[in-house]
Amino acid sequence: MNILFVGDVVGAPGRKMVKEYLPKLKSHFRPHLTIVNGENSAGGRGITEEIYKQLLEAGANVVTLGNHAWDNKNIFEFIDRAKYMVRPANFPQAPGTGIAYVRINDVEAAVINLQGRTFMTPLECPFQKAEELVFEAKNRTDIIFVDFHAEATSEKQAMGWFLDGKVTAVIGTHTHVQTADNRILPGGTAYLSDVGMTGPYDGILGMEKDAVIYRFITGLPARFEVPNSGRKQLSACIIQINKNSGKATSIERILINDDTPFFAG
Ligand SMILES: [Fe+2]
Repeated sequence: MNILFVGDVVGAPGRKMVKEYLPKLKSHFRPHLTIVNGENSAGGRGITEEIYKQLLEAGANVVTLGNHAWDNKNIFEFIDRAKYMVRPANFPQAPGTGIAYVRINDVEAAVINLQGRTFMTPLECPFQKAEELVFEAKNRTDIIFVDFHAEATSEKQAMGWFLDGKVTAVIGTHTHVQTADNRILPGGTAYLSDVGMTGPYDGILGMEKDAVIYRFITGLPARFEVPNSGRKQLSACIIQINKNSGKATSIERILINDDTPFFAG
């Protein structure tokens, strides 16, 4: 059994890449479970119900979120009926859920979203919340996927080791740059500090680069927008798992852009 996870979809360019490449990735890798992080999918900030549905139509089984979950106010309208969308579980008081269960053929899997606290909003403890949710999920399944949306690599590594042997995968999101540290931890948990971003290839973390450069040079405020033209990329990973034990056996990184184009065999 395998799980495909596509990293932070940013705005229209990210959605176009999902629409174009997710079907190709699915026919190539034949994942049993496909998860997409959509916290930046609406203009780089938040998600709408229409986009949530588009991501499911494009092939996602579950959509995860992060610190930008609430940026598009439309989320408050639909989050409670979005059965396959998870927001960070460690928000102290928020609508929606931080854990979703999905049934694929005869197998059930749990998908958990957590947010880090280092250099981010101080939410409830993600480690304690992880422990609670893993305990809950274990009553139903050993296949547990964790999207840890965090800034600091150290906090992500700490979560990986903390959950090693308890969950199938701990995959980082949020920093938008794919890291090269994919590995299977000794207890059988797949780990990657950050899966990377799906969206503009020539921007800065998915935003139009000139405004970011201007802000660095001048220290003055500048509005960051997602570029609506230009080259695009998709970042993802594919995790092979033993469906009986829920343990991961391999994790590969996937990066599609002009420098590393996608060739389906
Ligand atoms: Fe984020």
